[in-house]
Amino acid sequence: MLKEYAFEMAASAIRFGSGATREVGADLADLGAKSVLVYLDPNLRNLTPVVTTLESLEHHHVPYRLFDRVRVEPTDLSMHEAIAFANENPCDAFVAVGGGSTIDTAKIANLYSCHPADFLDYVNQPIGKGKPVPGPVKPLIAIPTTAGTGSETTGTAIFDYKSLRAKTGISHRRLKPTLGIVDSDNTRSLLPAVAAACGLDVLCHAIESYTTIPFTERPRPERPVLRPSYQGANPISDLWSLEALRLTAQNIRRAVADPTDDAARSAMLLASSYAGIGFGNAGVHLPHGMSYPVAGLVKTFRAAGYEAVDHPLVPHGISVILNAPAVFRFTAQACPERHLEAARILGADISAAHLEDAGKILSDQLLRLMQDLHMPNGLAALGYTAADIPALVEGTLPQHRVTKLSPRPAGPEELAQLFEDSLIAW
Ligand SMILES: NC(=O)c1ccc[n+]([C@@H]2O[C@H](COP(=O)([O-])OP(=O)(O)OC[C@H]3O[C@@H](n4cnc5c(N)ncnc54)[C@H](O)[C@@H]3O)[C@@H](O)[C@H]2O)c1
Repeated sequence: MLKEYAFEMAASAIRFGSGATREVGADLADLGAKSVLVYLDPNLRNLTPVVTTLESLEHHHVPYRLFDRVRVEPTDLSMHEAIAFANENPCDAFVAVGGGSTIDTAKIANLYSCHPADFLDYVNQPIGKGKPVPGPVKPLIAIPTTAGTGSETTGTAIFDYKSLRAKTGISHRRLKPTLGIVDSDNTRSLLPAVAAACGLDVLCHAIESYTTIPFTERPRPERPVLRPSYQGANPISDLWSLEALRLTAQNIRRAVADPTDDAARSAMLLASSYAGIGFGNAGVHLPHGMSYPVAGLVKTFRAAGYEAVDHPLVPHGISVILNAPAVFRFTAQACPERHLEAARILGADISAAHLEDAGKILSDQLLRLMQDLHMPNGLAALGYTAADIPALVEGTLPQHRVTKLSPRPAGPEELAQLFEDSLIAW
């Protein structure tokens, strides 16, 4: 196998500033948009992010229609509904106002309305066919309302594939939003429990992308167009991931405890975009790969803060962080210096640390943070038992796109052990 020798940095267009949402109408008018589809989280219908967006469109005389049936943690079925709406209402641009659920829904509606295909055609292999997006899509302006997924910076869209009971997604550079308007006024109404779950997603994006395999360990693509966006750790993604981790370590506790702490909330939103750029170019690994069945196989769990949602759900950030301590204890031996550096940024004193303790030192930092943020104590607190582990492993194995980026390979046996170790966190 010829190994990779190059990496490619795909830029993301971001405008960051408190109040910047007011500019979206001017952006669309300047794009010459004559009909816009606005995808929004229905729970935000009367809150600042949506109200400001619609006022701006009206002020700039931009005609629009609303799709307000976005599902929190979308499924293939909810995506079909979103695509049908785009097919029935031809437009020349999209706007998404909400968290990752809303932005991902708009990306998929944009893709399939521009390039109709069987739903599985563009879905990541091996679940789908992984076909590349065949051409440009329409402009999409993403206005995130959570400090979490970084979806405004990525070419990724995730959904729960119901028949598999695990999440999967579509990943292609052409799905990257044209512009992300990142405005800290839009996260002020987040409930503390939601801010905590989303913030821990940022943390995992940062640490996972920093600890993925180096890009030089991946196979070299036959043609440049086949180089994936998830390329493994590289010198540029490291910069974004480490800065995202530093901002998160300094601000997550404050931002969750006090939604009126504008400085901390703003720093978390910046961290979320930074982490998005880092992982959007490097990738994530086992905590995310294992999270997809943890979310997909949900039984009756309903997380605090998500009471407005009409179905059981494991919020994305919770499904990821609960696997993280066990995973980093496992992966540390592949790149102990990177695990120690992450622990140091999170507050550990590593001056006398031994490399062989790197995994435990990082895991201890994560466990302390999870306790401070009132996370459930492991997968058992979500209702999972040892009897669920085979199904959880089965749902993780097809997540090649991310599991192959683990710095230490994990097959069925290792994954079973990692789930076992994640049942009780502390
Ligand atoms: N595209 C990517 O790169 C990417 C990366 C990570 C995760 N994801 C996906 O994103 C989804 C999760 O997105 P998320 O964590 O941003 O949350 P979300 O969009 O699912 O929203 C979470 C909850 O917060 C509420 N909410 C959102 N903004 C609010 C605000 N400003 N005020 C009050 N309530 C608000 C929502 O109504 C919902 O109840 C998952 O499906 C996950 O798999 C995508």
